[in-house]
Amino acid sequence: MGFFKKNKQDAKVVDRYINKNKFILEESMQALDRERLFYIPVHLGYVRISTLELVAEEIRVNNIPGAVAELGVYRGDFAKYMNEAFPDRRLYLFDTFEGFSVEDVVIETKNNYSPGTQDFSDTTIELVLDKMKYRDNCVIKKGYFPDSIGDLNENFAFVSLDADLYKPIYEGLKYFYPRLSQGGFIFIHDYNNGEYKGAKRAVTEYCKEHRIPFIPICDPWGTAVIAK
Ligand SMILES: C[S@@+](CC[C@H](N)C(=O)[O-])C[C@H]1O[C@@H](n2cnc3c(N)ncnc32)[C@H](O)[C@@H]1O
Repeated sequence: MGFFKKNKQDAKVVDRYINKNKFILEESMQALDRERLFYIPVHLGYVRISTLELVAEEIRVNNIPGAVAELGVYRGDFAKYMNEAFPDRRLYLFDTFEGFSVEDVVIETKNNYSPGTQDFSDTTIELVLDKMKYRDNCVIKKGYFPDSIGDLNENFAFVSLDADLYKPIYEGLKYFYPRLSQGGFIFIHDYNNGEYKGAKRAVTEYCKEHRIPFIPICDPWGTAVIAK
C-alpha cells in the first residue's frame, strides 16, 4: 500500500515537472514567435510568411511535384521567403522589372479598380537575385505577363500571384491553375485590398467560372489561398 502511495506521489511530482516544463517550452515558442513578428517585414506580414512555410511543409511531406513561381516580384521580398521555403525546387520569377504596363492600367482605370499609378520600376534583376539563398534555383522571366511565358513547359506545386492588377492576376490564374499539381497551392495577394479592387474581381471571377473554392487569410491587404 505504502509502495503505491509513494509511486502516486512520485507520479504527481513528475506530472508537475512535465507541466511546468511544457509551460516553459510553450512560453519560449511564443517568445520566438513574437520575435519573428519584428523581423518579418511589415508589408509582407507574419501570417502570409507563416502560411507560406506551412503549405511548403505540406507540399514537402506529401511529395507534391512541380516548380514554384511568382508573378509580380518587384524587389524580391516575398520571393526570398519562397526561395528559402523550397530549397530544392526551381523558382520562376515573372515581372516586367519596370512596373505596370499601360494596357493593364487602362483596364484598371476604366473599371475603377485602381489608379494604377504606383511606381514599381526601382528594381533590378541583380538586386532580386542577391537576396536569394538558393540563387541557382531562380529562373528570371522578364517581360509582360502572359507574353513572358514563352515556350515554358512546367507544372507547379506553389504559385504566388502578386501583380496587383485585374488583368495579370486573371491571366495568372488562367495559366497557372490548370498547371497546378493536385495538392499544390496558389496565393493571390491583395484579395482584400480596397486600393486594388481588381485583385478580388479577378479571383472571384476565375474561381466562380471554374467552381474553385478558396480561403481568404488575414495578412496585410489580404491573400486568397487556393488549394487544389
Ligand atoms: C506589388 S509588386 C510585387 C511585390 C512583391 N511580390 C514583393 O514581395 O514585394 C507588383 C509587381 O507586379 C508587376 N506586374 C504587374 N503587372 C505585370 C504584368 N502584366 N507582367 C509582369 N509583371 C507585372 C509589377 O512590375 C510589380 O513589380
